[in-house]
Amino acid sequence: MIIKGAYVLKSYKDEPQKLDLKISNGKISKISENLIENDEEIYFFDNKLITPGLVNTHTHVAMSIFRGIAEDLPFNEWLFKTIEPLETKLNDEIVYWATLLSLMEMASNGIVAFCDMYMFENSVAKAVSEFGMKALLTRGLVDLDGNGKGRLKETFELIEKWNEHDNRIFVGLGPHASYSCSINYLKEIANISKINDLVVTMHLFENHWEKERYNLKEILDTGIADNHFLAVHCVHVDSDDLKLLSKFNTFISHNPTSNLKLGNGIAPITDMLKNEINISFGTDGPASNNSLNVLFEARLATLLQKKDNPQHMKIEDVLKMLTVNGYNALKLDGGLIQEGKYADLTIFDLDTPSFFPTKNMKKHLLHSTPKVYATMVNGKFIYIDGKFPTIDSKEVYRQFTNSYKKVIGIEN
Ligand code: NI
Repeated sequence: MIIKGAYVLKSYKDEPQKLDLKISNGKISKISENLIENDEEIYFFDNKLITPGLVNTHTHVAMSIFRGIAEDLPFNEWLFKTIEPLETKLNDEIVYWATLLSLMEMASNGIVAFCDMYMFENSVAKAVSEFGMKALLTRGLVDLDGNGKGRLKETFELIEKWNEHDNRIFVGLGPHASYSCSINYLKEIANISKINDLVVTMHLFENHWEKERYNLKEILDTGIADNHFLAVHCVHVDSDDLKLLSKFNTFISHNPTSNLKLGNGIAPITDMLKNEINISFGTDGPASNNSLNVLFEARLATLLQKKDNPQHMKIEDVLKMLTVNGYNALKLDGGLIQEGKYADLTIFDLDTPSFFPTKNMKKHLLHSTPKVYATMVNGKFIYIDGKFPTIDSKEVYRQFTNSYKKVIGIEN
């Protein structure tokens, strides 16, 4: 396949330039000013801007089934009184359709890869496999109800069946939080992570009350961050916590919308950057956001940090968080448009009022409202010009609506 005529932003550091891309076997095989090749599938993308694909480093995709059902509630009421009782009604089929719906939404927002933590993760993997996106999947691990072992067993089954599937699906370990796991359970998870070289991702200090159970040192002493630790939220961390975290192979997923909407606060991103911690963006689940759009998260995060000092969160830093840092957090190779890299691309439509003057198009990616035209993963389009070529979107809408009725129990 050849893509001709587009502006290409090869990395967060570069400026867009007119370049042609050749894609073979899922990877970028050639980048040149004027590629002339015969007998190829050719796309003429004049008036398009191609960037490295965007990454969503924290979500619970199947929670789209709960979108809009629990608004204006504090965190405890939202999670423990509203969401958790409804989660008992989920099953493989419902999670499959809810996942496909979320994949459509993410693809239409330019997302090529994401990290998920939830239940019925085998169905999430099946949906991701069919849709064509890239993902790090984790079964949410909780042991306070006595079923910790069962959830670890599910994790091993997931690894056996899906890890490294099609160079797109990877499996990690997902301890839910330090308030839902015992210290011994975290130690066991840490051990498994080290032996099998698996990413660990966990909600960490999303709420002010979490530290009352275990402080950061107690959590880190379990070994949970010894291998590769993707900590989600980190809203309630002080400078000592950040210094401690920076000594480990820590990656932080910043989810500003969910943190604000559930009344949990604003993470100290500027301090995290001073400690040279790898920060990326997550949407969190669609029941607490309620959308799956990392460009929006990046814009919100930038504005929140600029409120005291407009020199914080420069465009290059933020584009790095959306791309390279996202891949690093998921322990994947990517985030750059280079020969030999996987063709994971986000393609923007420059024929949009908000992209003019086009001379400043790189800035518009963050501070204006860009429109995604197409999304490609490993050389295949998963979204192009309003359509989802890998699936039957009408069937997804129909089945999702049926699933919603089964969960909520009312006509909709
Ligand atoms: Ni979450």
